[in-house]
Amino acid sequence: MTSRALLRCTGLCVLAVSLSVVMASDKNFKVDIYPPNPKQGQTVLLNVTGAEESFRYAEWYKGNTTSAANQIVGYNNDGSINKGDRYFPEAEIQSNGSLVIKNFTKEFEGNYTSSIQGFTRLWQVTVFLKGDDGKVDDPKPVLSGGAIAGICIAVISVAVAAIAGIIYSVKHKDSGK
Ligand SMILES: *[C@@H]1O[C@H](CO)[C@@H](O)[C@H](O)[C@H]1NC(C)=O
Ligand SMILES: *[C@@H]1O[C@H](CO)[C@@H](O)[C@H](O)[C@H]1NC(C)=O
Ligand SMILES: *[C@@H]1O[C@H](CO)[C@@H](O)[C@H](O)[C@H]1NC(C)=O
Ligand SMILES: *[C@@H]1O[C@H](CO)[C@@H](O)[C@H](O)[C@H]1NC(C)=O
Ligand SMILES: *[C@@H]1O[C@H](CO)[C@@H](O)[C@H](O)[C@H]1NC(C)=O
Repeated sequence: MTSRALLRCTGLCVLAVSLSVVMASDKNFKVDIYPPNPKQGQTVLLNVTGAEESFRYAEWYKGNTTSAANQIVGYNNDGSINKGDRYFPEAEIQSNGSLVIKNFTKEFEGNYTSSIQGFTRLWQVTVFLKGDDGKVDDPKPVLSGGAIAGICIAVISVAVAAIAGIIYSVKHKDSGK
C-alpha cells in the first residue's frame, strides 16, 4: 500500500468514526414531557436531554418546523432571551434549553420543535404536546377498592388470630387445672 492510499484509508476511517459518533448522539437527543398529558392549570416541562455539547443558543418553535414565524423564544448562552412571533408569557425557556409552560390550557396543545445550536453542530426534534381533558382538582377516591379489600383481610386476620389466641389460652388454663 502506498502512503497516499494509507492516508486516504485513514481519512475514511476517521470519517466513518465521526459519522457514527454524530449518529449516536442524535439517538440520545430527545424531549421528555412532564407530566406527559398536562391538565388545565398545570405547569409542564419539555425536558431537553442528550445534546452532548454545550450550546450557543437554544430555541423553541410552535409547530414542526424552525421557520422564523414559528419561533416562541430563544436562550443565548450569554443569558439573554429573544421573544419570537409565537411568544406567550407562560412559556419560560430555561438555561439548560428546556421549556417550562405555566398554567397549561388546551390552546397550548400542538407540536413544539426544540433546536439546540451547539458549537459544532445542531440538534432538532419535534414533540407533540397533548393535554388531558380532566381538571387538576378532579376528586380521586381516597382508597382504591384493592386497598379497602386489603384492609378488610388484615382486620379479619387479626380477629381470627385473637380468637385463636383466646381459645388456646382458655384450653391451656383448663388442662393446667
Ligand atoms: C430532566 O432530564 C434530566 C436528565 O435526564 C433528569 O435528570 C431530570 O430529572 C429531568 N427532569 C424532570 C423534572 O423529570
Ligand atoms: C432543566 O432545568 C429545569 C429547571 O429549570 C429542570 O427541571 C430540568 O430537570 C433540567 N433539565 C435537564 C435535562 O437538566
Ligand atoms: C407539519 O404539521 C402540519 C400540520 O400542522 C402538517 O400538515 C405537515 O405535514 C407537517 N410537516 C412535517 C414535515 O411533518
Ligand atoms: C391561568 O389561565 C386561565 C385561563 O386559561 C386564567 O383565567 C388564569 O387567570 C390563569 N392563572 C394564572 C395564575 O395566570
Ligand atoms: C404535528 O406534527 C405531525 C408530524 O409532523 C403532523 O402530522 C401533525 O399534523 C402536527 N399537528 C399539529 C397540530 O400541528
